[in-house]
Amino acid sequence: MQALKERKSSSGFTAKEIPIQDLSNIIWASAGINREDGRRTSPTGSNRQEIEVYAFFEFGAYWYNYKANTLDLVKEGDFRSITGRGEAASAYLDLLFIADTRKTGPGTKPGEANTVSYVNVGYVSQNVYLACSNAGIGSRARGGWDQKKVIETLDLPETMIVVLGQTIGYCSESRK
Ligand SMILES: Cc1cc2nc3c(=O)[nH]c(=O)nc-3n(C[C@H](O)[C@H](O)[C@H](O)COP(=O)(O)O)c2cc1C
Repeated sequence: MQALKERKSSSGFTAKEIPIQDLSNIIWASAGINREDGRRTSPTGSNRQEIEVYAFFEFGAYWYNYKANTLDLVKEGDFRSITGRGEAASAYLDLLFIADTRKTGPGTKPGEANTVSYVNVGYVSQNVYLACSNAGIGSRARGGWDQKKVIETLDLPETMIVVLGQTIGYCSESRK
């Protein structure tokens, strides 16, 4: 109830480091495995599990390896400016939720995410919002990524479509 009460989109993100346990909690909350059968904290239509989480820090881009519950380095470097408009480029962390359209069903058009993927990402993003508000850390769902540059940077096929970004970090207004 407290996390819901404090859920909001924050502004004034800083580069202050997020402690590893808080970071781990936020990433796991997004789409981590929470049951022995491999299902996740966020639901997906027909259990297609097509949403991948990527994390962008000043020092590199990482893929959330949900099976191992680790962030695996994809590429060193600062790519935050291609992940979203505004404060995405300067906050400690920017997340991208990317749909693997090879896993979505009929009705998926080439170059677009299935509408169900937009719904699925809504759950992921809200999980992140609540994990952040619980930890006293700011977050904001965000648009403005560069689809082409993102998939080039991450060396992904064109069938991977960015659905939403989310900026995370301590803010001038954060509790901590
Ligand atoms: C799908 C989606 C996209 C959004 N894109 C942006 C954005 O590009 N830039 C931004 O500053 N905020 C963005 N937001 C945050 C909204 O502006 C914010 O949720 C809204 O003003 C309501 O505020 P609240 O989240 O504090 O309740 C986005 C939110 C959603 C759900």
